[in-house]
Amino acid sequence: MLRRIAIAVMAVCSWGALHVQAQKNEFFRPKEVWNDTEGNPINAHGGGVLYYKGTYYWYGEYKVGKTVLPSDATWERYRTDVTGVSCYSSKDLLNWKFEGVVLKANPDDDESDLHPSQVVERPKVIYNKKTKKFVMWIHADSPDYGKAAAGVAVSDSPTGEFKYLGGFRPNDQMSRDQTLFVDDDGTAYQFSSSENNQTMHINRLTADYIRPDGTYVRRFIGMSREAPAVFKYGTKYYMLSSGCTGWDPNSAELAVADSIMGEWTVGDPCTGPDAEKTFYGQSTCVIPIQGKKNAYIACFDMWKKTDLQDSRYIWLPLIINPQTQQMTIPWQTEWNLSIFNNKK
Ligand code: DGJ
Repeated sequence: MLRRIAIAVMAVCSWGALHVQAQKNEFFRPKEVWNDTEGNPINAHGGGVLYYKGTYYWYGEYKVGKTVLPSDATWERYRTDVTGVSCYSSKDLLNWKFEGVVLKANPDDDESDLHPSQVVERPKVIYNKKTKKFVMWIHADSPDYGKAAAGVAVSDSPTGEFKYLGGFRPNDQMSRDQTLFVDDDGTAYQFSSSENNQTMHINRLTADYIRPDGTYVRRFIGMSREAPAVFKYGTKYYMLSSGCTGWDPNSAELAVADSIMGEWTVGDPCTGPDAEKTFYGQSTCVIPIQGKKNAYIACFDMWKKTDLQDSRYIWLPLIINPQTQQMTIPWQTEWNLSIFNNKK
């Protein structure tokens, strides 16, 4: 009995010690386990980052539980059950506090897009200044990816809880990998891989951001781009994206356009070992760093297809030459925001 009590006391003490020591992150270490402020691995895949009133919010796929390959799968559509969309908050982009699961799975309704049996991927959140709502768009799909739809949820607070409004095909077109972008004039757009992932659609949204407004263009026609991450630098628009090879890595491309629904031209921005495979990552978002000029972080997921919960993150600096506007994403094993200090 005494021995059991001693073991229990030791366990509590060592947990306490571990807990207290939940280390402050000083560096980004791409591909390594990245712990939140409680010492747990960050679980926010295919995510996006919103800056709101001095805080960054990171939303992502909350992947919990076993990864399976469904018995009827004719391609490597490894999956975990839908458990919701997570949110983390941070002031410095390195240390993230878990804010909980802000869009929850709905196990009680097997018709719901949020039922565990379905697919919820690539959540992105934007803030609507007019309605004062936080608006989340997700890729909502069936387990065989045949539904190819988008879903929308809203919240009054960045940390939820988000209320799911429903799913649909934007402009009656297929929509899979997707992202959102708000332009300086407040107009928002959804970029989504459509037409069986062959062609990217750029869908302009209604003023409340919860539906497409009916105006859209087809871009990257037949180029099979996925994983779009859109940002603006100066007066130009940029889209980082991947090719289309399931959970496996391929080459990244960075495209640029003078106007958002205009013509886009492409090149590969990654440099360093394994650059041609995007360092084994796939783009998910690009974060403009507040208070720093010309400073952006390019965020990638490093998927582990047979254990999706253990997928890692690759966050790298996006380096801009202000003279030529040339952009590169150089590999770093360890870095922090001081990399931007000597950049103009
Ligand atoms: C690639 C997409 O980018 C991911 O979000 C996911 O849908 C996988 N395909 C599924 O194979």
